[in-house]
Amino acid sequence: MRLILVSNRLPVQWDGTPNVGGLATGLSSFLSHWKSQGHEVIWVGWPGKSIPEKEQNLYAKKMLQEHGTIPVFLKQKLADSFYNGFCNKTIWPLFHYFTANCEYSDITFDSYEEANEEFAKTIRSIYQPGDWVWVHDYHLFLLPGILRNEFPNILLSFFLHIPFPTFEIFRLLPERFRTKILKGLLGADLIGFHTQSYTQYFLRSLLRCLGIENERGIIYFQNHLTKTAAFPMGINVEQFSKYANSIECDTIANQINTNHKNLKQILSVDRLDYTKGVLQRLNAFELFLKQNPNWIKRCKLVLVLVPSRTDVSSYQSMKRAIDEKVGAINGSFGTLDWTPILYQYKGFPFEELVPLYKNTHVMLVTPFRDGMNLVAKEFLVSQRNGMLVLSEMAGASAELPEAILVNPNDLSGMANAIRDAIEMDETEILTRNQMMISRLKENSVMDWANKIYLETEETAKRNQNFQTKSISPNSELLLPKTKQPIFILFDYDGTLVPFQSLPHLAVPSKDLITSITKLSQIANVSIAIISGRDRKFLESIFTGLPLHLVAEHGAWHKAPLEPEWTSLFHSHLDWKKEIKTHLDEFTKRVPGSFTEEKEYSLVWHFRNADPDIGLNAAREMLDELSQISSNSGFFIQRGNKIIEVREYGTGKGKAAMKILPNKEWETFAFGDDTTDEDMYRELPETAITVKIGKSETIAKYRFQNTDDVHLWIQNLINYLTKVS
Ligand code: UDP
Ligand code: G6P
Repeated sequence: MRLILVSNRLPVQWDGTPNVGGLATGLSSFLSHWKSQGHEVIWVGWPGKSIPEKEQNLYAKKMLQEHGTIPVFLKQKLADSFYNGFCNKTIWPLFHYFTANCEYSDITFDSYEEANEEFAKTIRSIYQPGDWVWVHDYHLFLLPGILRNEFPNILLSFFLHIPFPTFEIFRLLPERFRTKILKGLLGADLIGFHTQSYTQYFLRSLLRCLGIENERGIIYFQNHLTKTAAFPMGINVEQFSKYANSIECDTIANQINTNHKNLKQILSVDRLDYTKGVLQRLNAFELFLKQNPNWIKRCKLVLVLVPSRTDVSSYQSMKRAIDEKVGAINGSFGTLDWTPILYQYKGFPFEELVPLYKNTHVMLVTPFRDGMNLVAKEFLVSQRNGMLVLSEMAGASAELPEAILVNPNDLSGMANAIRDAIEMDETEILTRNQMMISRLKENSVMDWANKIYLETEETAKRNQNFQTKSISPNSELLLPKTKQPIFILFDYDGTLVPFQSLPHLAVPSKDLITSITKLSQIANVSIAIISGRDRKFLESIFTGLPLHLVAEHGAWHKAPLEPEWTSLFHSHLDWKKEIKTHLDEFTKRVPGSFTEEKEYSLVWHFRNADPDIGLNAAREMLDELSQISSNSGFFIQRGNKIIEVREYGTGKGKAAMKILPNKEWETFAFGDDTTDEDMYRELPETAITVKIGKSETIAKYRFQNTDDVHLWIQNLINYLTKVS
């Protein structure tokens, strides 16, 4: 299996030096493992600066040979507007809840689209069917959609390394941007997030922005199915602990420590980013020294800040503020023989970072917001006896509750946490760390990637299944195959006519009525309209036509041109009064919803309600109704933006079988809703069953919409008139 990994950042910069950042470091260690299992990998990404055109070929060759990477060349102006602009001045601050730092610009969004197209171009030039394409992070939200359009069967995953914000934050994006972002993502078979909360926020944004619902994390959109789930990213535990326990690591650790042997080391390691809460951390350290003077000259803070996104002004101003704060603390607390903060504005390679972790007594990881934070995990598997102080806003906190959890906005809480950590009993530290380490061992970066691969493959299989059912209304497979009479069952709403905001507005066009009339007049053709609608409505729409009408999901039947309806079931409807009071309660509570009363059923409609409120209320209603003890006698069914409670024993399946004149007849059934699944289940095996729309079905085939049904009717009329 060849893996094409796509991210904005490559593991190495244009000059061959390693890139720092969770995505590059985390994925690099997974890749070495993946390759060792005999798989091929190509990593596609941006070199980090613009390479002159005449040097590009040579550069690309060198990168492929030395690092297995393929560069996406972006012109300087485009890269600046895409990367510094939309990525780092819009999405990054917004998704980390720094709304005041956000800029919303059509120009940078256009560049974002253009850059995503450039990535697609590169992938197009190397993609072969059978490859697994795995797209990473917020720079490339549109890429899955572009790729799915071009390669409908591509095996495609997306993973987001940063938080997905709540809907209230996400909706701050102008509509054009947010719609394209959400739709772009839905091109993937699988979308992975670090935590369950981010997954939920994404699903809620889909519902609120586009009205797209999900079925336990699965979304059906444009004839394609996408699964969403949480996959917390792990680290290469073995690599870290093996090196941490090596003599080589000890030697470096001792060297670093020579001048500070008696000081307890507090460590802080981040890219210099305003989301990491570095200034707040320094304030907390200052407060800790003030409140605990006994620790003066007995500890030191090693502050590692890796330069990052230095062209963006908010990063520049953050750097200035940190420099000043470090100077102020060192100036006021330092003495000739002691400096409280050792400040390093540079990145360290793995070989030096691990000894730093190992020498540490207190590790401070206190971001305001962080998708995951791998530093916290790396520290835990490298330390000797060090305590982790971790922000509850970091994705990692969900897996590491035994750390001392802090709120980065709570200055005194953080100062106390530093004191508690530095003074914590060694056995207590050991016990807590062991619990966390064993959890990290169970979900290494390799396990993480394997899970994503397996889930993607499984979803792709479901997709194939889903695709193979889609059929053109002109297909010969949908024409009669014998000389037997033909029996056709049509559901009404969503099958013959599209949904409207109010049920009485959903009426057929003149053309449709003409077609159905023509079809019903052909010899040996019988048609049934089998609907959840009541008798009066169906009669008013199909008056005078020689059709079977079945109302209220099979409760009533009227044979062609017969004057009377007959009841297909008998009942006392004991449940109806009580249930109606419940439904009416919900109607009062949820603006835009209403209760419809039919003879054998009650329907609560929430199509016109706020999608989120409507859906939540519907879930609550299902729960409430299912708990009513006297529920014998009724049956609850979730339909398209409705909940229907109806008489037990009624159902389209049973009704269809009652009115089907002969099992040998060639039978066709069309429907869009869950109530129609009953029909597909009960009709004879030979029946041609067709689902209209996206969600899962046991029908044999699938149409996209009501237009397809109209085309099929037309096609059948033409065929039958020709053969007769
Ligand atoms: N890192 C590094 N050298 C340094 C500082 C950090 O290699 O001097 C690596 C660190 O090992 C970790 C990554 O950078 O794997 C930072 O990832 P994290 O998820 O903590 O934060 P991000 O930078 O992705 O926001
Ligand atoms: C975070 C992002 C990564 C990014 C890294 C470094 O971890 O999730 O996508 O690569 O920061 O940032 P940079 O802008 O230098 O790529």
